[in-house]
Amino acid sequence: MKMDNSDAWLRHQLADVEAALVALVPADAPVGLGLAMRYAVLDGGKRLRPLLVLSACEAVHGDTFAAMRAAVAVELIHAYSLVHDDMPCMDDDALRRGKPTVHVQFGVAQAMLAGDAMQALAFDVLTPDEGIAPALQAKLVRLLARSAGHGGMAGGQAIDLASVGKPLDETTLRDMHRRKTGALLQASVLMGAACGDCSPEAWQALSEYGAAIGLAFQVVDDILDVTQDSDVLGKTAGKDMDNNKPTYVSVLGLDEANRYACELRDQALSALHCAGLVAPGRLDWLAHKVVDRQH
Ligand code: IPE
Ligand code: IPE
Ligand code: MG
Ligand code: MG
Ligand code: MG
Repeated sequence: MKMDNSDAWLRHQLADVEAALVALVPADAPVGLGLAMRYAVLDGGKRLRPLLVLSACEAVHGDTFAAMRAAVAVELIHAYSLVHDDMPCMDDDALRRGKPTVHVQFGVAQAMLAGDAMQALAFDVLTPDEGIAPALQAKLVRLLARSAGHGGMAGGQAIDLASVGKPLDETTLRDMHRRKTGALLQASVLMGAACGDCSPEAWQALSEYGAAIGLAFQVVDDILDVTQDSDVLGKTAGKDMDNNKPTYVSVLGLDEANRYACELRDQALSALHCAGLVAPGRLDWLAHKVVDRQH
């Protein structure tokens, strides 16, 4: 499933995602709110979630306009989650995407409101007057809402905060990571899949792929927190230990965490092989990227 033009494809997709974000995130929201929103969303980030949406859409030959809207929406939710994650009441971080965090740059209240507004904008972006059929709009809204809310990201973040200083067992740790990070990544894949005619078997396979890659992503995030420098990460290294957070490294140790990330990548890859997917090559490539990444 190797594709020799992946780098060119990646550059092209990243440019398109950036252009769509620039077009859809307003600068003119009142009294600097728009500036804070654009600061949070533009010029930074790996854009993994948009790439998953677009790759899954490609895998089912789906509608590219709807997929780009879904890509922007999921990145807005993700970027909002980072703004709130960094606030003093959560992880209290001063560096994100190589820049001062939004609350450091604009103040805590403006950061909170920027996150709120980005969340609302995500659903606005998914429900245009034209270009996406109402049934698909509803499906995309539901997938995103469920992954971002109490059953997904927000619920996982609540468990994360309640777990500070606690020695979590592996089952609880997995549940927390699946919710706080995995759910949105899995939803990215499924939103892309929803943009095309996806058989129940392909949907199931993509769901398994998304679940495995979503969890692998946070396992690797935990690993990089202890193995990488702040300069490379663009965020503060060593933060999990500073904040006394249970992570895959603190619970399993570094070697076992690495082994588990590879096991999850292999689960994701084998899910792709099972499916009647038209073009799963990008997803295959992204699964490797998730585990091999340095930041
Ligand atoms: C960081 O996500 C937060 C987690 C969910 C682990 P990313 O590593 O995708 O952050 P950006 O978007 O590239 O900045
Ligand atoms: C964050 O997990 C998950 C989110 C929902 C934002 P982390 O707290 O580990 O993310 P980083 O390391 O700050 O990016
Ligand atoms: Mg956190
Ligand atoms: Mg954090
Ligand atoms: Mg982290």
